[in-house]
Amino acid sequence: MAQPPWKPPAMRFFVATTLLVILPAVFTKSPIFGPQDVSSVVGTSVSITCYYPATSVNRHSRKYWCRQGASGLCTTLISSNGYVSKEYADRAHLINFPENNTFMINIEQLTQNDTGSYKCGLGTSNRGLFFEVSLEVSQAPDFPIDTHVYTKDLGRNVTIDCPFQKENAHSKKSLCKKIGQTCELVIDSTEYVNPKYKDRTRLSMKGTNPKLFNVDINYLRLSDAGLYVCQAGEDSSADRKNVDLQVLEPKPELVYGDLRASVAFDCDLGREVAHEAKYLCRMNKETCDLIINTLGQRDPAFEGRILLTRKDNNGRFSVLITGLRKEDAGHYLCGAHSSGLPQEGWPIQAWQLFVNEESTMPPSRSVVKGVTGGSVAIVCPYNPKESNSLKYLCRWEADGNGHCPVLVESQGVVHEQYEGRLALYDQPGNGTYTVILNQLTPQDAGSYWCLTDGDSRWRSTVELQVSEATGTPNLEVTPQNVIAVPGQALTLSCHYTCKYYSQEKYWCKWSNEGCHTLPSLDKAARLPSVSCDPNNQVISMTLNPVKKEDEGWYWCGVKKGQAYGETTAIYVAVEEKTGGSRQVSPLDANAPANVAPEEEVVESGVSENENKAIPNPNLLEEEREIDGVGDQAQENRAAVDAGSADGHKGTSKVLFSTLVPLGLVLAVGAVAVWVARVRHRKNVDRMSISSYRTDISMADFKNPRDVGGNVNMGASPDTQETDLERKDGMYFENA
Ligand SMILES: *[C@@H]1O[C@H](CO)[C@@H](O)[C@H](O)[C@H]1NC(C)=O
Ligand SMILES: *[C@@H]1O[C@H](CO)[C@@H](O)[C@H](O)[C@H]1NC(C)=O
Ligand SMILES: *[C@@H]1O[C@H](CO)[C@@H](O)[C@H](O)[C@H]1NC(C)=O
Ligand SMILES: *[C@@H]1O[C@H](CO)[C@@H](O)[C@H](O)[C@H]1NC(C)=O
Repeated sequence: MAQPPWKPPAMRFFVATTLLVILPAVFTKSPIFGPQDVSSVVGTSVSITCYYPATSVNRHSRKYWCRQGASGLCTTLISSNGYVSKEYADRAHLINFPENNTFMINIEQLTQNDTGSYKCGLGTSNRGLFFEVSLEVSQAPDFPIDTHVYTKDLGRNVTIDCPFQKENAHSKKSLCKKIGQTCELVIDSTEYVNPKYKDRTRLSMKGTNPKLFNVDINYLRLSDAGLYVCQAGEDSSADRKNVDLQVLEPKPELVYGDLRASVAFDCDLGREVAHEAKYLCRMNKETCDLIINTLGQRDPAFEGRILLTRKDNNGRFSVLITGLRKEDAGHYLCGAHSSGLPQEGWPIQAWQLFVNEESTMPPSRSVVKGVTGGSVAIVCPYNPKESNSLKYLCRWEADGNGHCPVLVESQGVVHEQYEGRLALYDQPGNGTYTVILNQLTPQDAGSYWCLTDGDSRWRSTVELQVSEATGTPNLEVTPQNVIAVPGQALTLSCHYTCKYYSQEKYWCKWSNEGCHTLPSLDKAARLPSVSCDPNNQVISMTLNPVKKEDEGWYWCGVKKGQAYGETTAIYVAVEEKTGGSRQVSPLDANAPANVAPEEEVVESGVSENENKAIPNPNLLEEEREIDGVGDQAQENRAAVDAGSADGHKGTSKVLFSTLVPLGLVLAVGAVAVWVARVRHRKNVDRMSISSYRTDISMADFKNPRDVGGNVNMGASPDTQETDLERKDGMYFENA
């Protein structure tokens, strides 16, 4: 028997795909989306799902299903108000699913009279927002009684069983395909193989049954569908069997995406092709253009906004596309083939993507520009209903299939390499959060993704452009790198240009949790003048007396209400004055060995009792690393002998190298090692995210530490950590 959703093969494939190219312009007017063509068989039932934009008005308004008449009128058959027409009495339902912004129409006991044009829509009249659906109900095909039906998906294999009587045991066996009145030979026991089936068919006397021969046809194509006859013997005493082979092309799954938002295509082609290369392509007339594949090829149109992640070892993978554009709408296929390119006769899976231009996602800048040494504020939208979700910024990396290591997470994790220059400001209730990145370098240019652990549709992408700085900076701190002496006073001044005259200026102390505002003094604010005097545009902050824990990064910035503007950063080192040489880079095994001498030279120029500047901005890089460790040391102060002099720090360094990886090994166990606490916590956070969620989620984004590990590959602790994490991140590495 025919399967209910059976579609006549071959022809329809082309019809559907060519229609698609012509029609979107007509349909994008309405944000309602559903299946264009639905086919079914008399006596069976059908379910049609229509999507509407996620607004509360839409969730509550009337949903309808009407039939297009010759007059142009659309006659309501069923609606969410409870109306059911005579024709549909007792055989149809309309169900609204406000939680996923869909409604479904179920129609049972289909007759051929149900074939026609329909609309699923939203609104009080039948002329508002709608989508046109064509329903075709056909009679189940009539076969000769002795016909055996094989129904297989495109690209799969079929084994046809052909029984015969003892008399024909030694006669010729064959399979032919009916074409009109003739039957074209496919394969026979004399080793003939029709060229159309070359290398993909086999005739065998398999198994224990001596009265059965088999014909395998592999890599089924749509053109293989049809009536076949298998035959043993050649005269009137021959055994014959009629076979109807149906090759099903996958029904496209509908995907509803909002402009600027994101969608995911989950591809599962089965274990048989687990080890083949995989691809996602997009139908363009009769060809399918490659979008991305597991061999690292990618359509440049998706640069920065596409990720391919492997889900498991059975070949499942998913492709995430963010920053959806109007022109992304269309038919997509995923498939497997060693070439990484579409190939006839290999399994595929299909989607139709609809892009709703009336997006609920607020427009945000897709390009953010900064200058070397300057800063940018990236405003990330998220679903305002999910203000408690965790928020992230990850950096899209172009290598291979693209991956996106998390740089900052709203719960106080900042990627090591970004310590001191990256902060995430959650703005609850507003549907946005802001990520500030300062001390920009040309290497920061690239694509970044905003995402949360909640609604995955709201992922967005932003491109950061970094150009050479020209002219004087808008914000400038003096003195420039500081070594402060505990017990003394330190004043930091931040000079701003008149451009920022009317904005709020602030000083804050950076930490993993963000930048904590400090009391500060705005010189200009105390002046009666309303004009901008460039000499007085200073906001200063004083630490008095300086304490050891004041060490760290300080930011000076401007903002206007919730809108964060430019920032600049300065690192304040706090060092006890001792007779001997100062050791600034004690703990970090990765810090280049040449740092200390260089700083010693600098220090010799610092006078005895004053907190002064280090006039060497090149030290910034090293100091950032120092800070990472200093921060941890600070967090663990209770456990560390706080009085540990420089000499002891050498010991701590060893502890770091050996215990950090160990801490990770034990991350889920009960043993907590003090040294590893901070790093440990970071990783536990990440693990819980990936294990709670089973859909495409944070598991697709690499651990914040991965990049640090890769960059510092030469240093033993990180190398080992990276390896460890690769295990739980196997999604990325295997397939
Ligand atoms: C929408 O939600 C309902 C109930 O939760 C579910 O049965 C249905 O499959 C969902 N539809 C889609 C398209 O996800
Ligand atoms: C189909 O429609 C025709 C004419 O509209 C009607 O005579 C016939 O009874 C209908 N058949 C069914 C099964 O409803
Ligand atoms: C079809 O058969 C071929 C040859 O036996 C095998 O390599 C391939 O994996 C099979 N394909 C599927 C989809 O089962
Ligand atoms: C939300 O954002 C708007 C526009 O950016 C701003 O005017 C408003 O003050 C913000 N509200 C809150 C609560 O942050």
